[in-house]
Amino acid sequence: MSEDLTLEDIPGIGRITAKKLRNAGIFSVKQLAMYTTEELVDIGIDDSRATSILRAARRAVRQKALVLTAIEHEKLMKSFHLLTTGVKAIDDLLGGGLEPQSIYELAGEFGTGKTQICHQLAVTVQLTPNRGGVNGKAMYIDTEGTFSLQRIYPIAERFGIDLDHIKKNILVAKPMNVEDLEELVRGELVKYVEEGVKLIVVDSIIALYRAEFKGREMLARRQQRINYLLDWLKRIGKTYNTYTVITNQVLDRPLGFGPVVKVPTGGNIIAHASTHRLYLKREGDIWKLEVLDSPKIARKASVCFRITDIGVEDV
Ligand code: GTP
Ligand code: MG
Repeated sequence: MSEDLTLEDIPGIGRITAKKLRNAGIFSVKQLAMYTTEELVDIGIDDSRATSILRAARRAVRQKALVLTAIEHEKLMKSFHLLTTGVKAIDDLLGGGLEPQSIYELAGEFGTGKTQICHQLAVTVQLTPNRGGVNGKAMYIDTEGTFSLQRIYPIAERFGIDLDHIKKNILVAKPMNVEDLEELVRGELVKYVEEGVKLIVVDSIIALYRAEFKGREMLARRQQRINYLLDWLKRIGKTYNTYTVITNQVLDRPLGFGPVVKVPTGGNIIAHASTHRLYLKREGDIWKLEVLDSPKIARKASVCFRITDIGVEDV
């Protein structure tokens, strides 16, 4: 099994190269296989060696053929376990729940339930498969300081999960800046994923970038960096079948002399990287989730939900 391989088992990786890899936070062959030649060159491995060890690592961990027939592809998609949100209407809209390997984006104004849904998922991921979970742990990357264990308790109680268990199985990361965030996602996160993290939440994806890259002249750089982070989240999702949810803020975009429309921030980069873009709204005591873009759900399809003391619920 590829899990049992050590870096030194890969042809071309000797003691020195293995040390360089480990110093850069690369501990397993599976993790190594996610890297690009350029990234290995950046940590001091020469070009031709980087290419050859990557090829060998990818070959060693590849579980399935690179090319599938459409039938095999369909079978593979059907074999994925769908993660419940704990809200039947939302699960139904999503086609049964969240699929692994994809990025789900929750965009909306303040108070529209983005953080609440993420909290609930951090609980439901821990449920057993017969209840819609995956017996997994959650990594909650909290860039806005809104993670609340107090909020988790009543949700956990509602789903009948032991509180001690919950405390062990939700990992909270609070990156201070973009560097912290990138380092976490490329490095330690993978280690935790190998130890059972199945849900990765980034709440929110944009806050740190907005704070750090200010002004129009920084925009291109900012977009490039966001793209890089999202690319890593995707690589991890595809390699480890993790469920990924990011939250996003919205901006006013004036339409000529017409009305102002609200659009998710991050422009094309986030739009393209998100597999399923979901837009949240609040109308009084009812919240609404609408599909902005998705390869499998009709655009504009929507459902209502509510937020109560015990979390996010059906209406
Ligand atoms: P920003 O992060 O500010 O952009 O908003 P958000 O979309 O993340 O909002 P969030 O998910 O935090 O939703 C906040 C709403 O959930 C609040 O306005 C409350 O109405 C509701 N809410 C949060 N906690 C509780 C609670 O303990 N009880 C009840 N009844 N409602 C709650
Ligand atoms: Mg929030």
